[in-house]
Amino acid sequence: MEIKIRQENRDDFYAVSEVNKLAFGQDTEANLVDLLRNSNAFISELSFVATLDDKIIGYILFTKITIINDDKTETESLALAPMAVRPDFQNKGIGGQLINHGLKIAKELRYKSVIVLGHKDYYPKFGFEPTMKWNIKSPFEISDKGAFMGIELVTDGLKNASGLVKYPNEFETV
Ligand SMILES: CC(C)(COP(=O)(O)OP(=O)(O)OC[C@H]1O[C@@H](n2cnc3c(N)ncnc32)[C@H](O)[C@@H]1OP(=O)(O)O)[C@@H](O)C(=O)NCCC(=O)NCCS
Repeated sequence: MEIKIRQENRDDFYAVSEVNKLAFGQDTEANLVDLLRNSNAFISELSFVATLDDKIIGYILFTKITIINDDKTETESLALAPMAVRPDFQNKGIGGQLINHGLKIAKELRYKSVIVLGHKDYYPKFGFEPTMKWNIKSPFEISDKGAFMGIELVTDGLKNASGLVKYPNEFETV
């Protein structure tokens, strides 16, 4: 099974929507991606598809966020969201490949960190740690605080970033 990861292009939009709908079992995340593509937070180089025989079976997106620091200055970062793998292809490492590829390109583009709200047993495998470490807080109510995680792409990428994460307004639809 040869999985390829590449940047998403216009012709992929429909298939990406289908993957998100199938993986999440609802339309919310697919609609969120459609909104984010038209927002200032979108970075086309950080919207990736996973393909098998040219068929799209996975998707991951990183968008721009800011962390409003305690001293009211701002730190630029990225949000990893959403990420989806078609149910019939899950647990084969495709999600992991999408994350690793995305983090590598984000680093090449000189982004310093990534934040994710997600499964707390999954993302630490890729180096994510609960944001409590940097005193970075989620704007959303989260029952399990450990599910809000971050990773530094460069040394001390989040060192002075303590504060509240500001997501693009489009996330309010989720
Ligand atoms: C999360 C998701 C993208 C992972 O993709 P994948 O290709 O199956 O991921 P991988 O094969 O790299 O890794 C599978 C691992 O994820 C873990 N995992 C999947 N869903 C999980 C969940 N809800 N909670 C905790 N771990 C989960 C599996 O247990 C497995 O762990 P293992 O490596 O220890 O066996 C995929 O399961 C998916 O699309 N889920 C539905 C949508 C979703 O929840 N997206 C993430 C939002 S944060």
